Amino acid sequence: MSFHQHRQNDYIGSICILAFLKHMEVFLASTMDKIVSICKRRGFIFQSSEIYGGLKASYDYGPLGVELKKNIKETWWRDMVHRRNDIVGLDCSIVMHPDVWKASGHLAGFSDPLVDCKNCKERFRADQAPRAEAGAEVEFREGGKSSGRKLKGSVDKRGYVCPVCGCPDLSDERQFNLMFRTSIGPVDPMQEIANAADALADLDIKERMEKLHEIIAQSAVYLRPETAQGMFVNFKNILDSSRVKPPFGIAQVGKSYRNEITTSNLTFRTCEFEQMEMEYFVKPGEDEKWYDYWRNTRMTWYMSLGLSRDRLRLRDHEQSELAHYAKACADVEYYFPFDTQNGEGEWGELEGIANRTDYDLKKHSEFTGKDLSYFDPETKERYIPFVIEPAAGADRAALAFLCDAFDEETVPTAKGGEEVRTVLRFHPKIAPIKVAVFPLVKRDGMPEKSQAIMNDLLDAGINCFYDHGGAIGRRYRRQDEAGTPFCLTVDSQTLQDDTVTIRDRDTMQQERIPINGVVEILNERINT
Ligand code: GAP
Repeated sequence: MSFHQHRQNDYIGSICILAFLKHMEVFLASTMDKIVSICKRRGFIFQSSEIYGGLKASYDYGPLGVELKKNIKETWWRDMVHRRNDIVGLDCSIVMHPDVWKASGHLAGFSDPLVDCKNCKERFRADQAPRAEAGAEVEFREGGKSSGRKLKGSVDKRGYVCPVCGCPDLSDERQFNLMFRTSIGPVDPMQEIANAADALADLDIKERMEKLHEIIAQSAVYLRPETAQGMFVNFKNILDSSRVKPPFGIAQVGKSYRNEITTSNLTFRTCEFEQMEMEYFVKPGEDEKWYDYWRNTRMTWYMSLGLSRDRLRLRDHEQSELAHYAKACADVEYYFPFDTQNGEGEWGELEGIANRTDYDLKKHSEFTGKDLSYFDPETKERYIPFVIEPAAGADRAALAFLCDAFDEETVPTAKGGEEVRTVLRFHPKIAPIKVAVFPLVKRDGMPEKSQAIMNDLLDAGINCFYDHGGAIGRRYRRQDEAGTPFCLTVDSQTLQDDTVTIRDRDTMQQERIPINGVVEILNERINT
């Protein structure tokens, strides 16, 4: 065999090995790795500031991701506000009066002793970590991944291990404020600190910290860690300006910020996230009835948008888990395919439904001296309403819908072979693109006909996408990966009888429908 033939065989061999590895990757990569990969490849989620090396626990939504999250928020708003006559909306500022956070307890309660795990990088509360005997030898997996090497370490005198991977190699405990602090007004606290530097030098560390806190507090404001407080401080405004009376709710969708950083699991826990919260004000004594109502209603909402029943649960909190203000709480949880120690995924909270009693209104009343009671003109009763709060996260919901939608299946190819098709089976209501329109070929008036159909769809408020590139089978596959539930193809028959084929993403079945019925048919299929 000549040198040239050798080189050629080596080359073919390398290609085969690469193809084999690519093929194996489909089977060996974990589900979560595949979801992360499709998120980046198809423009759902990108790491924030990626070209600068990224920012921990921060993500950006790409063209498909922004549509998915917008659809989730809009569906929530339609179901929680527009479709009800007992709930009104609110959009309040992110930076609120700093005393709001004193009254709510966030300034005190959001400062916890935190510890970092040096193995899996989880940051956790020292007082809630699993206990282990000091000096005991424990096993854990490298990086906290089921595929990581088995490692051993001994528990130090603090007597606890990482709650995620069980590793005993931990950082020192540090006081950590979960609220992001910034300053407002013309005075720069840095200038004040510089001015006070000489006087501070003689103080011990504790006194110095107290003085610094005093200086900073003069202009300190916080990025809200939840949207809920906006509803409590606007309770009276809304009562006075809208024709509402208990039971009624105030709903808000917006950004919240918490300085809590875990690097794994994509958007599950981030510093900046969006909440969809509603505070439902009820007469004391009717709170338990309404708590049950919202517990069930919210669970049903996720099912109505197609989340798998067997990966959803409603978990009631133990008495010991309840927040200081809550009488009862239940979490809607989804079984995420996260890589864990045992490789089996884990339950994660999508939404908490809490009976917050009259705690918040009473606290704000106490701090402001304002009367936040309700007077019922019919019964002549005056009371501070109890609050039932369904508090959901838009980013967690988007991640759950993405994980649930992800599927791979082996399907026959046009040439009689087989291929793996990746498909995101979103409910049509939340799918980023509802319908893709394809001219079979780029001539004979098919592109123009397709554009006319696109215009009708856009006029009807149906988000659509035009694609004329490549074989029709490839175009279908691209839309399967984007989670587009329907594809319309304009072909030569269209030019004769004004019909198109509609292809269903999940069944891959095609049928012919008249162009003048397209909007009605799609509206019906999207909204059922
Ligand atoms: N007002 C009550 C409240 O904020 P929470 O359980 O802390 O309750 C409600 O938050 C929802 O907000 C959670 O169920 C979750 O979906 C979302 N959420 C909370 N912290 C988050 C974070 N760091 N990253 C992403 N979503 C978060």
